[in-house]
Amino acid sequence: MPISLEHVSFTYMKGTPFEKTALHDVNLQIEKGEFVAVIGHTGSGKSTLVQHLSGLLHPQKGSVCVDGVNLNAKNAAAKKARNSVGMVFQYPEHQIFAETVYEDIAFGPRNKGLTPEGTDRAVKDAMAFAGLDFETFAQRSPFRLSGGQMRRVAIAGVVAMEPDYLILDEPSAGLDPRARDEIFKEIMALYRKRGIAVILVTHNMEEAARYATRLLVVSDGRIILDGVPHEIFTNHKEELLKVSMDVPPVYKLAECLQEHGLNVKSTPELADLERQILKVRRSRHAD
Ligand SMILES: Nc1ncnc2c1ncn2[C@@H]1O[C@H](COP(=O)(O)OP(=O)(O)OP(=O)(O)O)[C@@H](O)[C@H]1O
Ligand SMILES: [Mg+2]
Repeated sequence: MPISLEHVSFTYMKGTPFEKTALHDVNLQIEKGEFVAVIGHTGSGKSTLVQHLSGLLHPQKGSVCVDGVNLNAKNAAAKKARNSVGMVFQYPEHQIFAETVYEDIAFGPRNKGLTPEGTDRAVKDAMAFAGLDFETFAQRSPFRLSGGQMRRVAIAGVVAMEPDYLILDEPSAGLDPRARDEIFKEIMALYRKRGIAVILVTHNMEEAARYATRLLVVSDGRIILDGVPHEIFTNHKEELLKVSMDVPPVYKLAECLQEHGLNVKSTPELADLERQILKVRRSRHAD
């Protein structure tokens, strides 16, 4: 069953001189098992879109449903539906609230009715998932951590709730490349194991190309492209450039090599491109 937006529109500061329409009549369905990357220029509406998917913002027009249940209804089914969607905010300090890292991460599992032992297990698993050493961090104040560590706490808090739909709004901001790779490895493992949907907002084209099964390109509050990342990066470069986006560097490199007469195919994986180049070289030497 999907998470779906139907004819959703949203305007900030409506009726004031600062009025800004951030979503224009958006229709979208995301099924469990999809890994969706959302890209778009700054201010295009990505965060507004995912805040609707998580029920944090209510649509001014249209509706948001999870597994057929309207997220904004005021009943037990809607609460359960909202609990099935977990979101790591763009700014993690906006979602951290407790006095210790442990308490912050324990909030969700406790709220779901887990026993103290179950909660303890969930906190430890989620901290391991996010790369936070239990002994070092459990009793520390989350507000005294670095930006990257705070982001890990936010990720752990959301993962501990075992959501069916996991939304990550720019999760790698503030993380160094190694930490980013480690967290993505865990997210991919979770995605494959539990068959959840992952919705990843990112400025990083390589992340989108590497991990996503589906790519949404947002511009001025509209989804202007929706398809398989490889297909979009290969066939829709002009549209991306028009909205101040670009293709990942590995696609540019392949294109450059093709222009120089090298018979290689575009690919999201640098290692794959390298193999192709070596193959071309070997065949040239053999001639
Ligand atoms: N709380 C707010 N009040 C007024 N306008 C807002 C508010 N939040 C966002 N906006 C405006 O709505 C539009 C969409 O913002 P949104 O944060 O969804 O974009 P985004 O694609 O997530 O941007 P970024 O890449 O910078 O995170 C922007 O023009 C933004 O200035
Ligand atoms: Mg944003």
